[in-house]
Amino acid sequence: MQKSDELPALPAPQAIRGFRLYEAAFDRAGQAALVEDLRGVIAAAPLFSPETRFGRKMSVRMTSAGRFGWVSDRRGYRYEARHPAGGEWPPIPARVLALWHAATGLAREPDCCLLNFYGEGARMGLHQDRDEADFRWPVVSISLGDRALFRIGTTERGGPTQSLWLTSGDLLVMGDAARLVHHGVDRIDFGSSPLLPRGGRINLTLRVVD
Ligand code: SIN
Ligand code: MN
Repeated sequence: MQKSDELPALPAPQAIRGFRLYEAAFDRAGQAALVEDLRGVIAAAPLFSPETRFGRKMSVRMTSAGRFGWVSDRRGYRYEARHPAGGEWPPIPARVLALWHAATGLAREPDCCLLNFYGEGARMGLHQDRDEADFRWPVVSISLGDRALFRIGTTERGGPTQSLWLTSGDLLVMGDAARLVHHGVDRIDFGSSPLLPRGGRINLTLRVVD
């Protein structure tokens, strides 16, 4: 756990369907520093294109850092201690952990930092994050690069939804009664941010797994 005087100060959050949204939680220099850290993660654990359990390729490419990484293939969705190519996942960067601690106030560190990369046309269907052992731990989401049209539903399938744009530097906490709320990404506004030179969006989700 970082000492509280080392944690980044976050702006006041807004409540959206039980999620806590910290808009512009960290500035442009902080975003660029995070991208550099993530280049190291991707060098150690290259992005891969997962398949759904039905054998369909996901449009998002992904990798992970931490004790566990999230993987998907015909065997289903799950956490694994190793990258599909066999190597260990790299550690979660300290800057990412500091944001987790600042947003949650928890001493416990996340076990997994899932890194999703959205290129042009990539999206993610509405889903719940439910591959973790204990839903009392929150999920923290960090957005970098192109803005994304994020859709939030309810804890029930097929409930009414609401959309909002997530912009580079935004941080979202999905916890408590909203931990199992459906969410997804309808589209990204490709090229809307100069943060990633070739465009695209990175989303990090931090999860306690076991
Ligand atoms: C996710 O639900 O895993 C990703 C959400 C996002 O990309 O904002
Ligand atoms: Mn999710």
